[in-house]
Amino acid sequence: MKLWATVAALGLLVIGAWAQGVMPTVSLLPCDSPEAEAAALVAQDFLNAQHTHGYKYALNRIEEIKIISKPGEVDTYLLELDLLETTCHVLDPTPVSQCPVRQKQFTAVEADCDFALSNTTQGLSVVAFKCKSEIESEEDICLGCRHLIPFNDTDGIQLIETSLDDFNKKHTLNTKFVLFEIGRMAYQVVSGGNKYFAEYGIIGTNCTSHDDDICIPQNHTVAIHGFCQAEGSAKLNKVDCSIFNPAQVVDPATNAKGPVQQLLHAHTSGPQHNPTIHGLKHHKLTHLHDPSASGLLSAESSESAELVVPKKAPFVKREVAEPEGPAANATADAAVVAEKTPIPFEPILLVPICPGQKKHF
Ligand SMILES: *[C@@H]1O[C@H](CO)[C@@H](O)[C@H](O)[C@H]1NC(C)=O
Ligand SMILES: *[C@@H]1O[C@H](CO)[C@@H](O)[C@H](O)[C@H]1NC(C)=O
Ligand SMILES: *[C@@H]1O[C@H](CO)[C@@H](O)[C@H](O)[C@H]1NC(C)=O
Ligand SMILES: *[C@@H]1O[C@H](CO)[C@@H](O)[C@H](O)[C@H]1NC(C)=O
Ligand SMILES: *[C@@H]1O[C@H](CO)[C@@H](O)[C@H](O)[C@H]1NC(C)=O
Repeated sequence: MKLWATVAALGLLVIGAWAQGVMPTVSLLPCDSPEAEAAALVAQDFLNAQHTHGYKYALNRIEEIKIISKPGEVDTYLLELDLLETTCHVLDPTPVSQCPVRQKQFTAVEADCDFALSNTTQGLSVVAFKCKSEIESEEDICLGCRHLIPFNDTDGIQLIETSLDDFNKKHTLNTKFVLFEIGRMAYQVVSGGNKYFAEYGIIGTNCTSHDDDICIPQNHTVAIHGFCQAEGSAKLNKVDCSIFNPAQVVDPATNAKGPVQQLLHAHTSGPQHNPTIHGLKHHKLTHLHDPSASGLLSAESSESAELVVPKKAPFVKREVAEPEGPAANATADAAVVAEKTPIPFEPILLVPICPGQKKHF
């Protein structure tokens, strides 16, 4: 039934495309093919390079991948990806493949993104993307789990101030760090009261560790940054910061060490620098990025003018559980019969398997 319906719909699409005189062809790829994977990783790295705030995102699953070919033009890849928030700050040079994915019980952010990539002679490059990110609902969250709190929470701010003070007294880098941005704030009800958690980015200033002067953050593009995780309760206060040297930042596009790819959302640093510039909400991703106004991702309806044909007719062999016993032959025979049933129209559609496998959860 389903096949017939698909074929009938395709028939209409083909007619529509002819009628308009445009014949872009759309090829479908299996979502777990190496080609799809390679394109998805280019998209993931590009996305992570676009932000100076928040966390890196890791590919969880390829939902769909289409390649649009038009005569005389480079191929365009359209990808739909499911990404998960990691615990690495975007300024952290750790490759995203080595960043732990934030677990659901810590109210991680999930993102669904559409990307348009173009396959130029230099390789695949992102033309546009759009993302929808949402924080895991806290509904199914257990009693005693961590709850996110707004960035203006006085107890949370207090924890950041005291823990950063602590860190500034202890480290040996001879520069005073100030708050660059808040990443997360949460609290948890524990026996004996509330426990607070904060994750925040820090930036080096023109003050040495012991200056009590006015301390101005260094120019963001050259400054030393770091990322701190603090927790505090009535009994305990601890902070752990890692410092990222700009010289160690790895450019994801080339894997070369050097300054990060141009950033879209650089914070302005200066006397009026307001670290809570993004408001009280936890970070979400850039919603739409389409600098050349390609319209590739906003014009969903344009698909109706495309002719869908499978590229290289990728045949995906399905794993079928082999039944045991006498029934085995009967089942096998039935499968053969089904495969031999003539399909009414050419080209034969072998729909690739999508979505792909989940890498995390
Ligand atoms: C990009 O196009 C070239 C031909 O121009 C092709 O060889 C290559 O496989 C394509 N890249 C991808 C990732 O499909
Ligand atoms: C935090 O901001 C919200 C919204 O602006 C406001 O209603 C609330 O009173 C603020 N809380 C504190 C502790 O400042
Ligand atoms: C840092 O820069 C500010 C503004 O230029 C200046 O007022 C302050 O004295 C400087 N601090 C140090 C320790 O040089
Ligand atoms: C920071 O440094 C970069 C590169 O040296 C420069 O282009 C930019 O204008 C500087 N920004 C500020 C606010 O000084
Ligand atoms: C299945 O069929 C083959 C020959 O077609 C036969 O040798 C075999 O015994 C059959 N197996 C069962 C479980 O009936």
